[in-house]
Amino acid sequence: MWFAWLLRWLSRYHEPLVADRKRKLFGSLTGRVLEIGAGDGVNLKYLAPDVSWVGLEPNSHLARHIVVPPGGRLIIDTYRGEVIDCDAVICSLVLCSVTDPATVLRGIYDSLRPGGQLVFLEHVAAPAGTALRRRQDFWLPIWKRCAGGCHPNRETLDAIEAAGFRIERIEKFDLPLGLASAHITGVATKNLLTVKSLLVRALLSLVGVPPVGIPKEREPP
Ligand SMILES: C[S@@+](CC[C@H](N)C(=O)[O-])C[C@H]1O[C@@H](n2cnc3c(N)ncnc32)[C@H](O)[C@@H]1O
Repeated sequence: MWFAWLLRWLSRYHEPLVADRKRKLFGSLTGRVLEIGAGDGVNLKYLAPDVSWVGLEPNSHLARHIVVPPGGRLIIDTYRGEVIDCDAVICSLVLCSVTDPATVLRGIYDSLRPGGQLVFLEHVAAPAGTALRRRQDFWLPIWKRCAGGCHPNRETLDAIEAAGFRIERIEKFDLPLGLASAHITGVATKNLLTVKSLLVRALLSLVGVPPVGIPKEREPP
């Protein structure tokens, strides 16, 4: 409850600072778009009207504010790396908060069609050795407790690359937001299907690895 209030309050300040970037980034998405950690639905206004939106948001105090677009779907649950087929994924200020970024990013990778895009806007760790990075490391335990599990010192770009994505576009920028001032935004792409990946898929289905489905949907309270 407290975090939902804090986030919505902070968002009034943060949103105007990133609106242009979000418009460019999210406005061009098409097809089935999966949003991890949709908050109160702050990013929905940037999407084209014909996008088919699927959002996950575990915090019911935030989720109740989401106005699900026609044909869209809200799942009030934590994303833990399940495969949810989609053309694009939005991560906006969420990879700092997920418990296990590697598992989440791997799940996102597997959910995307070949050539699909992960579009991200995240606050991240300041460069190693800087005064800001030392402050991020120092305040982490308290910050995490007060800010819904947020880690101010995550090396998110490295984690995206480690999950197998190719970084297509990246912008690094700073906002006047104290410990959370270092930001990145950009587009990461899943590789197109190769003969090797087709063989791996065929082998997995031969040995009977079960398909993973969409998590059970829950209605907002
Ligand atoms: C800082 S807020 C950002 C909300 C919104 N995306 C925005 O740009 O303002 C992070 C959100 O991610 C959600 N979250 C954290 N871990 C998550 C997970 N594993 N799966 C889905 N949502 C998660 C939180 O409940 C919270 O609403």
